[in-house]
Amino acid sequence: MSWIINVLTMFPGLFPGPLKESVIGRGLKQNLWTLKAHNIRDFALDKHKSVDDTTFGGGNGMILRPDVLSNAINQTFDFSTPIIYLSPRGKLFNQEMARSLVSNNKGINLICGRFEGIDERVIEKFNIEEISIGDYVLSSGDLAAYVVIDACVRNIPGVLQSKDALQEESFGDSEKYQYLLEYPQYTRPAIFEDLAVPEILLSGNHEKINLWRLQKAEEKTQKVRQEIWAKYTQFLKKKD
Ligand SMILES: C[S@@+](CC[C@H](N)C(=O)[O-])C[C@H]1O[C@@H](n2cnc3c(N)ncnc32)[C@H](O)[C@@H]1O
Repeated sequence: MSWIINVLTMFPGLFPGPLKESVIGRGLKQNLWTLKAHNIRDFALDKHKSVDDTTFGGGNGMILRPDVLSNAINQTFDFSTPIIYLSPRGKLFNQEMARSLVSNNKGINLICGRFEGIDERVIEKFNIEEISIGDYVLSSGDLAAYVVIDACVRNIPGVLQSKDALQEESFGDSEKYQYLLEYPQYTRPAIFEDLAVPEILLSGNHEKINLWRLQKAEEKTQKVRQEIWAKYTQFLKKKD
């Protein structure tokens, strides 16, 4: 069964864009997931096809009109799957959310905002969840949609060739890696410009290699992501 993504956007030509490449793109060709990009302008209600208007109360910029967006949502979205508005005001997107969105086995609906955003009444009317991909402002939700779709799709069974790939990566599926960043990795040549691969990785002792990797993942996480490190230490305390 295909995981179906409906996207409402001002720029349907941007899709699937980079999502048609590489492993994610192979999953698209294999119908493991399906993408339907709908042009918000097609649901405009006047002959000029206008989709935006000025802000009540004054202020800069234009807002996507609620009547147009509501019309578009009613005609394109699958109401049995979550409706998400990509927005800098949203809950910060993370791996756990990606996994959870895919676990419904059905799909998602995404709204890519434009201008200064969308009319708040649409968010209330359709009980829309707002998701942000980071604490910065993009010019439209389309790049954010790429990010959310890519992160979700690689969790669809069969998209990555090895299920193990999802286990021991940053924020991985495995219990111990869920709050850790990935350990350092190396490939051939074993010596590159006088820099040798850590000897333990050539030892063939998998128990020792796993311990070394866990230690390196812990060091990295503690150094660069204090807030995730705090979650990890809590997790270790609970486990004891
Ligand atoms: C210029 S932004 C509007 C920003 C809005 N006026 C605000 O201050 O929250 C236009 C559109 O880009 C998208 N966008 C911008 N930053 C985003 C982010 N960090 N995460 C997700 N979507 C974002 C949203 O869809 C938004 O409607």
